[in-house]
Amino acid sequence: MTHHCRICSAAITPFMSFGRMPIANAFLRSSAEASAEYFYELAPALCPECKTFQIVNIPAPDQMFHDHYAYFASTSRVMTEHFRAMSEDLTRRYLGGADPFVVEIGSNDGITLSNFARKGLRHLGVEPSANVAEAARAKGVQTLCAFFNVETARAIVAEHGNADLFIATNTMHHIEDTNAVAAGVAHLLKPTGVMIQEDPYLGDMVADCAYDQIYAEHMYIWSITALDNAFGRHGLEVFHAEHNDHHGGCMRYHLGHKGAHVHSPELAAAKAREVELGLGMPETYDAFRKGCEESRDRLMALINDFRAQGKRVAGYGATAKSATVINWCGITPEHVEFISDTTPAKQGTLSPGAHIPVVAHERFAGQPPDAAVLFAWNHFAEIDAKEQAWRSGGGKWIMPVRRVEVR
Ligand code: SAM
Ligand code: TMP
Repeated sequence: MTHHCRICSAAITPFMSFGRMPIANAFLRSSAEASAEYFYELAPALCPECKTFQIVNIPAPDQMFHDHYAYFASTSRVMTEHFRAMSEDLTRRYLGGADPFVVEIGSNDGITLSNFARKGLRHLGVEPSANVAEAARAKGVQTLCAFFNVETARAIVAEHGNADLFIATNTMHHIEDTNAVAAGVAHLLKPTGVMIQEDPYLGDMVADCAYDQIYAEHMYIWSITALDNAFGRHGLEVFHAEHNDHHGGCMRYHLGHKGAHVHSPELAAAKAREVELGLGMPETYDAFRKGCEESRDRLMALINDFRAQGKRVAGYGATAKSATVINWCGITPEHVEFISDTTPAKQGTLSPGAHIPVVAHERFAGQPPDAAVLFAWNHFAEIDAKEQAWRSGGGKWIMPVRRVEVR
């Protein structure tokens, strides 16, 4: 079957398959849900023309974003602080004019916009998942419960005027129709307005073999080159890029109307690094595929080793990305007896695909396992600090991707 790039329509071919996958955040609340579980084939490809990294089969958006969406961004103190600092920085850089207006998509539980709301700045969140949108409203964040696209952009401009700042963190890679968002942003932004996009960076994923960044909700993994091509089709361009280490390595892209902003020296350096990393070359993805296979085999060997010694293994963090690791590696409740997670909406459910029980942290503390697969590896520092009592009693982390090892 021929697939076509969702950005530029060129023919694309997957370079590997992670097999049959459930929706990553579809934690099962009943046996009826378990028997009606939805699966798709998770197969990534790189567009040879516009260089966009994407998966070829995408479930319908309302399968993924709905009134019981499981991801509450503010669960992490580190990310709460990260977005507070980002809000300060963006206010200083871009909101110096009179009565500025900030729009955020994927505003979730208000983790970022609450910082603007507290200062009394005009703002609007656009968030289709009703439960998290409600959590944001409870924090005083103005929120429209909708999918963002050109029509939404038109409605926002008609009611509130054009935006000085448009923010999309960890969200653009969740939206299939990038062209609809880019056209909406081009319509919504003032002539000197700025769009900020931040999400897991293709360069880090490839360099670290962090394949668990790939799942249906992460249908794209962006790079500067690809984003510039995609938004360039709508008169927008990247003029600055900043890297950070959150979520395993993210890029924060600053975009504006073409010619409206001076390109930074950091952007030129980051683009040169993409060439060095070979992000546009098919050979890079052959090596990545081999890396994924080796990573899977090593992880299963480590888990099987603990189990063969009669040791108990649990999971830590029922992350969305754990769905890719668990289902691709073939981890079952025989390997990992439960997954501890602090998110109330995930507790008492079964993990998608493998049906491993997701439990509250009290279970982890009450029946401490010998080892825990740290599916939330991106929160290592925060979690390791919290679990010092377990660690001093001999508890071991099994790191599931990147450097697959026992710590
Ligand atoms: N911005 C937060 C952060 O950085 O942690 C939350 C990101 S969360 C992983 C992605 C959010 O995007 C979800 O809350 C989801 O409901 C929302 N979303 C998905 N499609 C969207 C669309 N078309 N327009 C606006 N938001 C969307
Ligand atoms: P994320 O990697 O997508 O941010 O998801 C982190 C998941 O891990 C989320 O379900 C909450 C969970 N978690 C814990 O259970 N304990 C913790 O200390 C942290 C930071 C996260």
